[in-house]
Amino acid sequence: MSMIDLIKQRRSIRAYRPEIPPRELILECLEAASWAPNPTSQQPWQFIVLAGKPLQAVCRAIKENFKPVPGPQVVPINPVTQEMLDRRKKKHFSEMMEFLKAQHYDMQSAADGNFRFHGAPVGVIFGVYPCKDQNYLKSTVAAMQNFMLAAWSRGLGTCWMNAVSICQEHIKRELKLEDDLILVDGIAVGYPDPDSPINKIPRERLPVEAVVRWMDT
Ligand SMILES: Cc1cc2nc3c(=O)[nH]c(=O)nc-3n(C[C@H](O)[C@H](O)[C@H](O)COP(=O)(O)O)c2cc1C
Repeated sequence: MSMIDLIKQRRSIRAYRPEIPPRELILECLEAASWAPNPTSQQPWQFIVLAGKPLQAVCRAIKENFKPVPGPQVVPINPVTQEMLDRRKKKHFSEMMEFLKAQHYDMQSAADGNFRFHGAPVGVIFGVYPCKDQNYLKSTVAAMQNFMLAAWSRGLGTCWMNAVSICQEHIKRELKLEDDLILVDGIAVGYPDPDSPINKIPRERLPVEAVVRWMDT
């Protein structure tokens, strides 16, 4: 499969088979993650692989402490742009709900999935030590994307778990992680359940021309 086809085929997986993927396979994908571009090769990240009891403990910490908080407001928001993005989000959610309803999918379990790594047998937390040049977050997100693509190429599904950054203080306490380690987010990992409707929600992207500006004359 070409790299571009792989990128387009990767999708967020929100229902998993119970088998734990072999450690070597996860390590292979994490090694691919570590080849992400990063500031002056400082490789400031840490990859924390969770399964079994530690994963359950993190899920518990999330369930007990989750609050949907907006991210830090670093730049002023243009209300017109915000409205456009809100419209896209609403369209995405309503199409997703309509699809799942038609499949008689249990909506509550779909929502609860966010508190339990969508039932994946493995969760990986991507942490990073902050460094002075402010590039640490960017490089860790690049590593996360590498990881998801590598996983997909090896038959593993993944889903980004935003609840990890939201509940990071509680998770760090639970796992006895250093205070200065920033938990960028988590990624659920496992073999996709091929029959679950939640893994079949139609996906789309805007035509790329809608977001490209050529400035070449
Ligand atoms: C920063 C970020 C946070 C996300 N958080 C969650 C999450 O908490 N739960 C979830 O199910 N999906 C989460 N996602 C996945 C997106 O919902 C998903 O990528 C998007 O709907 C596009 O679908 P696709 O990944 O199948 O192309 C997140 C994605 C990103 C980039």
